[in-house]
Amino acid sequence: MSSGFQYYTPTRVIFGKDAEQQTGELVKEQNCKKVLLHYGGGSARRSGLLDRIEKSLAEAGLSYVALGGVVPNPRLSLVYEGIELCRKEGVDFILAVGGGSVIDSAKAIGYGLANEGDVWDFYDRKRKPQACLPIGVVLTIAAAGSEMSDSSVITKDEGGIKRGCSSNACRVKFAIMNPVLTMSLPAYQTACGCTDILMHTMERYFVNGGGMELTDSIAEGLMRTVLKYAEILRDEPGNYDARAEIMWAGSLSHNGLTGCGIAASDFSSHALEHELGGMFDVAHGAGLAAVWGSWARYVYRDCLPRFEKFAVNVMGVEAGEDAQETARRGITAMENFYRRIGMPTSLKELGIAPTGEQLAELAHKCAVACGGKKGSAKVLQEADMLQIYRDSLG
Ligand code: NZQ
Ligand code: ZN
Repeated sequence: MSSGFQYYTPTRVIFGKDAEQQTGELVKEQNCKKVLLHYGGGSARRSGLLDRIEKSLAEAGLSYVALGGVVPNPRLSLVYEGIELCRKEGVDFILAVGGGSVIDSAKAIGYGLANEGDVWDFYDRKRKPQACLPIGVVLTIAAAGSEMSDSSVITKDEGGIKRGCSSNACRVKFAIMNPVLTMSLPAYQTACGCTDILMHTMERYFVNGGGMELTDSIAEGLMRTVLKYAEILRDEPGNYDARAEIMWAGSLSHNGLTGCGIAASDFSSHALEHELGGMFDVAHGAGLAAVWGSWARYVYRDCLPRFEKFAVNVMGVEAGEDAQETARRGITAMENFYRRIGMPTSLKELGIAPTGEQLAELAHKCAVACGGKKGSAKVLQEADMLQIYRDSLG
């Protein structure tokens, strides 16, 4: 039986070629006085996108201050810098030009400005944010889905502690999505993005409790679409239609749509990956691919009907007599897909070799971050997390 749910997607989406030309007008509609133009490590400058955005803001008569330098696994130190800069400059709107890292950094700065006290408290689960400065997005990578999600993930520099904060307050006002902007992505980042998009739906699909046929159909259709177009993009990075399919999938996969009617999502693979990102600074999508197979083999017996359905409806496995065997073939098929798009399926392939001590630290931090336990397909405790990390060593 389906569980009750709330579905809240207040973000206006402007999708298509040249969509970023409307940036100035869209920001102006927000009635703001001063904008923070927030961006990453240089790709948006190199591609000429930032010049176009700056021109669009100037044409709309908007004054702005710029802060670049957001890195993947965005850091708390830059968030503090942004908060200080915005206070000094009287910023009342943030425009994030980039991917999940830039958007999440913008959300954290927005929290810091709209609430009293230390912004890290919200990521450390000590307090809940009550408000956020309004944010707009020009998306340059289809991956994290932050442009429509309620979430922001920040890494504290000391100790590499990566933590998420979820609240509807940070949902962005508008998201400009021009698939052409994603054509300059390195193949590895495109593949990381496709993996993350798949995972946001898989985390809501492999669950015990609730469920709706309509939501399952949307989820399975979304996953099949990503599987198809990820491979097309590997061979044809300039294929507009493939870029568009993946970009829209990225937003729908993490705006709550594929979770409507389920009792509780799983998100264990994400929890396991966030610790890898914090300790080893790996790319989020690649980290997810590296642990997913071990997680799936550890939990599938506790969530067998879903793994069997996934194998048949998403991975195209022929249903056999033995449900467990069908489920395992679905897991293998997904790992083979990851390999075909150049994603790792173990920590070794990810390029890291944690020591026994580090594995124990990862599992402990993961358990602490989750409040002791995590998951819906199977509820994991610290010992389970440690076993999955060990199984994924490769
Ligand atoms: O910094 P620049 O130079 O722009 O380079 C970026 C970065 O190196 C590059 N890039 C982005 N657009 C490009 C481009 N290079 C060439 N052409 C373009 N058009 O790609 C690299 C990755 O960018 P990043 O923003 O880090 O990627 P992504 O969107 O995957 O974001 C990852 C972060 O989001 C978090 C992850 O944990 C990670 O910290 N997540 C956020 C979520 C959310 N807020 O809802 C949910 C996710 O599960 C995830 O945890
Ligand atoms: Zn993710």
